[in-house]
Amino acid sequence: MKKQVISNPFRIHGVVEGEYFTDRTDELRLMVRSLTEPGSKLLVYGPRRMGKTSAILNAVNQVNNKGGHAFLADLSTASTAVDMCNRILAAATKIVGKKWKSFLTDIISRLNISVSLNHDPVTGLLMPSLDLNLRGTDSDKQRKTLSSILDAINDSAKERKTTIGIVLDEFQEIHKFGGETAEWDLRGTIQQHGNIGYILAGSREHLIRRMIIGHGSLYKLVDKLPFGPINPDHLAKWINLRMKTSGARVEDVGGPIIRIAGPRTRDIIQVARKCYDQVVVKGRATLDDVEYVFNEIVAEENDLLYACWNSLTAHQQNVLRAVVASQKGLTTQETITKFSLGPSGTVSNTATALVNAGHLVRDDAYTHKRIATPTGYDFDSPFFKAWVIQHTLSDIGLPQ
Ligand SMILES: Nc1ncnc2c1ncn2[C@@H]1O[C@H](COP(=O)(O)OP(=O)(O)OP(=O)(O)O)[C@@H](O)[C@H]1O
Ligand SMILES: [Mg+2]
Repeated sequence: MKKQVISNPFRIHGVVEGEYFTDRTDELRLMVRSLTEPGSKLLVYGPRRMGKTSAILNAVNQVNNKGGHAFLADLSTASTAVDMCNRILAAATKIVGKKWKSFLTDIISRLNISVSLNHDPVTGLLMPSLDLNLRGTDSDKQRKTLSSILDAINDSAKERKTTIGIVLDEFQEIHKFGGETAEWDLRGTIQQHGNIGYILAGSREHLIRRMIIGHGSLYKLVDKLPFGPINPDHLAKWINLRMKTSGARVEDVGGPIIRIAGPRTRDIIQVARKCYDQVVVKGRATLDDVEYVFNEIVAEENDLLYACWNSLTAHQQNVLRAVVASQKGLTTQETITKFSLGPSGTVSNTATALVNAGHLVRDDAYTHKRIATPTGYDFDSPFFKAWVIQHTLSDIGLPQ
């Protein structure tokens, strides 16, 4: 009898590495090149949960394992530009500071601001953070500080005649701290850095798209790497192989999992992970299990999805109902009447707001998905879509 592997071979919390990571060979090659080539700038952009950060972190690790210097600063939660500065300083200290003993003092000496140092209990490293009072200063001053930190890292690398790879993950959040001016400031700063290889990564479609078209802040500055789904055949085989580590009888569930979960890697792996738990309990996995497991996830996420639904206006809710159930375009008279949508201009505005808020996607080269629904819109999350079908269509007398 084959040995039963107890730990689940699919991971969905945070980024994945090692055996939990598959594919992305071409993307990794481009990313490593960008992180090591002086003055290079690569924009990695694609929808949420596609696997951007995991791929980039794997590239960062490859660079560091080969004796280079690269780090990732996660800017997604920053509430001020100063928070971004702290993220960059901390990530740089953890990676580069470990290799170059004088790195931190060198950077601080190049900055004209007060930096406090605290021992990190986990790594034992002295970690820098900017004066808290700076968070209250105007955004212009804060952005200048951000530029000065990147300048200092570039100058330090230049003095050592080397290149540092910097990933600014969810970099588009800079927009919160000064709109387009902030984006242009960032361009002005990074275009001067001949000793940094940048990766700018992001998932907020409407912001990034505007940056890369003519007259946008990143126009002709960056190489572009649209980040799409993993090849479905490859992923399906990989899922089946990992399912089999359970020692159980497993049908081809990889393909059906991808079909039910859609193109986003995390959604697919989430269904695979739960399916594996099912395999361990039942000793087998069939097509029926895939559907059962998918609905289990929808049920488990009910509270969150219900809260999400309740946070929307009645008009937004009606547009979502139309997206799942209408057989015609969103602004056609038939759809407008059936789903009580009001004037067509308002419908388009609401749909755009739902796209910008991350609830819907629309047919667009950016999303790597041709939207096959009659409305031309689809849900960002397959779980929210299923929830809307299961829980809200009967409100308007439609079958679930
Ligand atoms: N190459 C991969 N192999 C296997 N699983 C992956 C891979 N890439 C991503 N995943 C799965 O997707 C999840 C999300 O990955 P990751 O956080 O890298 O995506 P992201 O595009 O950065 O998402 P976000 O938009 O939330 O920042 C991982 O936890 C893992 O479950
Ligand atoms: Mg990410």
